[in-house]
Amino acid sequence: MGKKTMISMAVVRRLPKYYRYLGELLRNDVERISSKELSERIGFTASQIRQDLNNFGDFGQQGYGYNVRALYEEIGKILGLNKNYNTVIVGAGNIGQAVANYTNFERLGFHLVGIFDRNPKLIGISIRDKVIQDVDNLEEFLKNNHVDIGIICVPKEQAQKIADIFVKCGIKAIWNFAPTDLNVPDDVIVENVHLSESLLTLSYRLNEAELFKEKIGR
Ligand code: NAI
Repeated sequence: MGKKTMISMAVVRRLPKYYRYLGELLRNDVERISSKELSERIGFTASQIRQDLNNFGDFGQQGYGYNVRALYEEIGKILGLNKNYNTVIVGAGNIGQAVANYTNFERLGFHLVGIFDRNPKLIGISIRDKVIQDVDNLEEFLKNNHVDIGIICVPKEQAQKIADIFVKCGIKAIWNFAPTDLNVPDDVIVENVHLSESLLTLSYRLNEAELFKEKIGR
């Protein structure tokens, strides 16, 4: 049903938010919604919403609004949520354990099949139903198990080493929590997570009014 084959990354970055809001509407038995109502909920302008959603086909009708279920399902498909993915986490410290314990990722189709660390105190402990394995076994594990996504939760000095193992074993998607830019071949996708950047943005916004006052007071 998609109109275009390629969607701009700017639109792609907004899709999870559409997906989340449409999911909430569905759970509340809302069958259709206008771009204006969606705009009031999501915070994007109605024209932005119409432009974005126009990428995927004719889900909106003048005077009717959008068919919530059809749009939700189509966006889910575009986000690849109609498939299942096997993931492994390397680094079972604070972040690794938090990600492993977040069961909602499973609901979305991301299945944790292995978790690895190098700390002997952690190896052998279970997180949910997964026993933390020695990272020395990572390569062997990746050879014997199909894994789609490698998740890096080790200190930044160790991150490239883990990325290299992922690449060597054919993993094509890396979710990187370490604050470092990874060197990978062009056919490997890296999505970096930066909680601290989000926190610094929050800090800026907290101080924005004050900064602005200082500026115009000058
Ligand atoms: P942590 O020290 O609690 O956990 C790191 C774990 O990695 C430890 O269990 C350690 O034994 C293990 N490890 C180290 N080298 C390894 C290797 N070569 N192979 C396997 N395991 C290895 O650290 P934390 O707080 O969980 O942070 C992990 C990473 O996430 C760090 O790079 C940190 O900078 C980053 N981080 C990123 C955030 C973000 O917003 N993306 C926020 C907070 C931390």
